[in-house]
Amino acid sequence: MRLLVTAGPTIEKIDPVRYISNFSSGKMGYAIAEAGREMNIDVTLISGPVSLPAPCGIKLIKVENASEMAAETKRIFPDSDITIMAAAVADYRPVLQAPQKMKKESVSLIIELEKTEDILASLGAMKKPGQVLVGFAAETENLLENAHAKLVRKNLDWIAANDVSGNETGFGSDLNAVTLISRNGTILEIPAAPKIEVARLILKEILSAS
Ligand code: PMT
Repeated sequence: MRLLVTAGPTIEKIDPVRYISNFSSGKMGYAIAEAGREMNIDVTLISGPVSLPAPCGIKLIKVENASEMAAETKRIFPDSDITIMAAAVADYRPVLQAPQKMKKESVSLIIELEKTEDILASLGAMKKPGQVLVGFAAETENLLENAHAKLVRKNLDWIAANDVSGNETGFGSDLNAVTLISRNGTILEIPAAPKIEVARLILKEILSAS
């Protein structure tokens, strides 16, 4: 059994000292990797820049931006039985990256952004029978409706609908609460708990259905 997990944010550079990113700490993805290791699963963790220690007994691949995360994830994915994308991949990156630190010469600044690759959708298109693909949906409104739309659009088997509108759970916190939805329509509510507990319940549910 081989498990591929992504974690953390990506950072998209504007110039050598500035970037666009988000508040992901990597805690949720690292907890899933750790829960997999506890279950004696062979785990590969692809991580954006985080300040968490490298976990023991897990293959760790560090990346910086969405394009590197896409390349590494698509490289490992064909050999993975279960893939869980907990990373908060930047949806946009600057069209141009300034080679030198930009000077603050004008009163306002417009930075043109372009879409990054939707890695999960690419994996959904590559998926072979028997592979299980799991996404997270970080939502601040219409949680279940938006999460279900992502499950269908990206050809997923499961999605963890993650309400990120509060401070107690979601980005950066030690706790999380998710609703795990399968493509067959089963729904498992996982109430607020430490991320390692949430990770164990997600993996247990997915493994028991596989
Ligand atoms: O890291 P923590 O601080 O512990 O916080 C955990 C978390 C809130 C980041 C995590 O639980 C979570 O919800 N991760 C998904 C964040 C996200 O990007 O959600 P989304 O709804 O924007 O994306 C949906 C899915 O598509 C995600 O699985 C995402 O990894 C994937 N995606 C998104 C954009 C993109 N360009 N490529 C992708 O693969």
